[in-house]
Amino acid sequence: MSDSRTGADSRMSTTIDVTVPHPARVYDYLLGGRDHYPPDRTLGAAIIADVPDVQVAARANRAFLGRAVRCLVSEWGITQFLDIGTGIPTAGNTHEVAQALDPAARVVYVDHDPIVMVHARALLKGTPQGRTAFIHADLRDPESILTDPAFTANLDPARPVAIMLVAIMMYILDTDGPQAIVARLLDAVPAGSCVVITHLTGDANLRGVLRIVELGRRSGLEQCARNRAEFESLFAGTELVAPGIAPVSAWRSDLAGTTEVDRAGAADSALLWAGVGRKC
Ligand SMILES: C[S@@+](CC[C@H](N)C(=O)[O-])C[C@H]1O[C@@H](n2cnc3c(N)ncnc32)[C@H](O)[C@@H]1O
Repeated sequence: MSDSRTGADSRMSTTIDVTVPHPARVYDYLLGGRDHYPPDRTLGAAIIADVPDVQVAARANRAFLGRAVRCLVSEWGITQFLDIGTGIPTAGNTHEVAQALDPAARVVYVDHDPIVMVHARALLKGTPQGRTAFIHADLRDPESILTDPAFTANLDPARPVAIMLVAIMMYILDTDGPQAIVARLLDAVPAGSCVVITHLTGDANLRGVLRIVELGRRSGLEQCARNRAEFESLFAGTELVAPGIAPVSAWRSDLAGTTEVDRAGAADSALLWAGVGRKC
């Protein structure tokens, strides 16, 4: 059996708090999933009421994730993934996309939300040739990820790794040192590795984005928007691969396998920036 799962980090809470909205569950609501509680639905519905395009943007973000993984495996030969901010499993999880192209692909998932840990079993059903694992950890403590046995045992340090930070960096506030966190992760992987990031825009479509941030804050869910320059600063130490920074639905929308959801996302592409940087 190639799958593994670490025990919960004792410093991390394993209690699912259903009294306040959580990012994974609100996102699940926006994607039309079933794993959410009343506070998540209340916030999700309020966001949809004020920013109707947010659901298309969430689907476009998810479709970008799939395109980026396809591109990493089939064009750049990267078959190891560290997917931080996994979310509740849904269609097209990273290991499913990667292992469909290379059954030996390895994926280590990381999330701090106990509900994602509960669902992690669904993420651990990979191919016999590949590996999947889950780490219950907080991105704000990158050392806890990099020293976890699930990271060290499943990802070969000699081969490139794609660090997936898809729709998570907006929860890492400036006071958490987002650039230093990404730099620390990049430091742990060899040249040729990539970092994949999407983020709420802090310039394009500002009215809608600021409303999302404000509604979240009022419900106790802190997140931030970042403008293009701030977003680009997260890629320090890498070279942005073509097409550079782009709205999520525009990033490599030429790729074979682009779905109807990708095209639908074009309508609201400006809610999220996307980019992929390659470590030189
Ligand atoms: C919006 S979801 C994105 C899910 C998936 N990456 C995607 O784009 O489809 C954000 C995820 O990041 C996780 N997250 C937020 N802050 C985190 C942190 N500090 N450490 C680890 N996970 C975090 C949430 O629990 C949630 O599952």
